[in-house]
Amino acid sequence: MPDRLKIEVVEALGSVRSQLEYLRDLGEETLPRPASIKDLPVCSPGQDPVSAAGHCRLETLEEIRAELGDCCRCGLGNSRNQLVFGAGNPVARLVLVGEAPGREEDRRGEPFVGEAGQLLDRILLAMGLSRSDVYICNLLKCRPPDNRDPLPEEIEACESFLIRQLAAIGPQVIIAMGRFAAQNLLRSKLPIGRLRGNWHSYQGIPLMPTFHPAYLLRNPSGKRDVWEDMKQVIQRLHSLEDV
Ligand code: URA
Ligand code: URA
Repeated sequence: MPDRLKIEVVEALGSVRSQLEYLRDLGEETLPRPASIKDLPVCSPGQDPVSAAGHCRLETLEEIRAELGDCCRCGLGNSRNQLVFGAGNPVARLVLVGEAPGREEDRRGEPFVGEAGQLLDRILLAMGLSRSDVYICNLLKCRPPDNRDPLPEEIEACESFLIRQLAAIGPQVIIAMGRFAAQNLLRSKLPIGRLRGNWHSYQGIPLMPTFHPAYLLRNPSGKRDVWEDMKQVIQRLHSLEDV
């Protein structure tokens, strides 16, 4: 061990010892145990868990899922088979947000496991990523009958859970797939064709809107556009790795 380091270790041990002696002089025979992070209250929206004043912690995905329970906050609760919460890495650097579960997702309880999901897997693979690297979820957690568009009241009932999922994960980059995810997260009315391909900000997090994989199944020529968008995402993730 270099001499300088040795001196620092001896000094640090010395100050620990004097602190313990001081506590003993006060009559304290045991050390106060720091509170477990689990004992802290959950942060309110926008409260910073790491600020000096903010003695709070982020919600976990399990807690958000538990609160959804057997959700019937909108009419889709009556027609769905299974609620599809989301899946993947709970500390992912990249989160992908889709629209709503389809038939296969509703059957299996997992996001993007049907035909659109298989295309999404190929897109992720081309990006050098797998499902376990990322987190995938949807704007709506339940399947609209016959895959119709989400209704405004369904979005209103459900989107706070997506917002809480994104806060719990704290990704570095978000991909919004399709018009509904992009317009709702960005509070924009611009069509997806105008939003995609450019960086936007969701709560300070860079967000890239792109076409939905289901749209690509019907319009394969859009695959090149999506690949352009995904290359920007890869670059961004790499540049954030360097800081
Ligand atoms: N389409 C979506 O938007 N989400 C899914 O989970 C599946 C298909
Ligand atoms: N319409 C949508 O809702 N999403 C797309 O990705 C393309 C068209």
